[in-house]
Amino acid sequence: MARLAVNVDHVATLRQARQIHIPDPVTAAAVVEMAGADGVVVHLREDRRHIQDRDVRILRQTVKTRLILEMAATQEMIDIALDVRPDLVTLVPEKRQELTTEGGLDLKVNRDTVHRAVDALQSGGIPVSLFVDPDEDQIRTTHEIGADAVEIHTGTFCDASEKERQKQFDNIARGIKFAYALELGINAGHGLGYDTIKAFKGFSEIDEFSIGHSIIARAVIVGLDRAVRDMIALIKAL
Ligand code: PXP
Repeated sequence: MARLAVNVDHVATLRQARQIHIPDPVTAAAVVEMAGADGVVVHLREDRRHIQDRDVRILRQTVKTRLILEMAATQEMIDIALDVRPDLVTLVPEKRQELTTEGGLDLKVNRDTVHRAVDALQSGGIPVSLFVDPDEDQIRTTHEIGADAVEIHTGTFCDASEKERQKQFDNIARGIKFAYALELGINAGHGLGYDTIKAFKGFSEIDEFSIGHSIIARAVIVGLDRAVRDMIALIKAL
């Protein structure tokens, strides 16, 4: 069964809306773990719009499963990661203006920067995953750079119109098979919800799903424990 790593950024988004101390993503992470999640994901953005440095440092001490740090391949973030030592770093592209991560890393353009970041993190004993679109060239470069895993961007599939959806999923399916043949670890994420997750039935190559928004959105209505358990039940059925 694939693991579920829950992204708690949006708990911090709600906190930052009031610039106070609640709700605390650290508390949310504990609930997520008690509900059975296999990991906690946070994205420390350059603009600190949701997760703060303090969150990452406390989570490193409190998370009992795995702490996954999403970050841009900048020197500032590399220094923080080497200090905090998460269980996995997922390198993502980052634009100040975007509402959320808009697509995978472009390794054609950023290969050297990303390669240097992978080397620095791995030298510090931190495994690295690269968030890329389901594109053979990007996945091949992920392997050439020596990353431990790839996180395949599922957002284009999840956001696609009914007409486009199958085509987008076929790209993901090809990407998963290609990454598997290269013996990369395989994670998948972005935009996944309680419906779209069902498309992954039979894809036992996937090691981990990284899911945030849909779980936190459901949690607002039914509670975080229930929202996580509902997603785990769907992953179990894949
Ligand atoms: N994976 C990556 C690399 C991301 O940047 C995000 C969003 O922070 C997610 C997964 C989770 O996406 P969502 O919040 O849409 O589930």
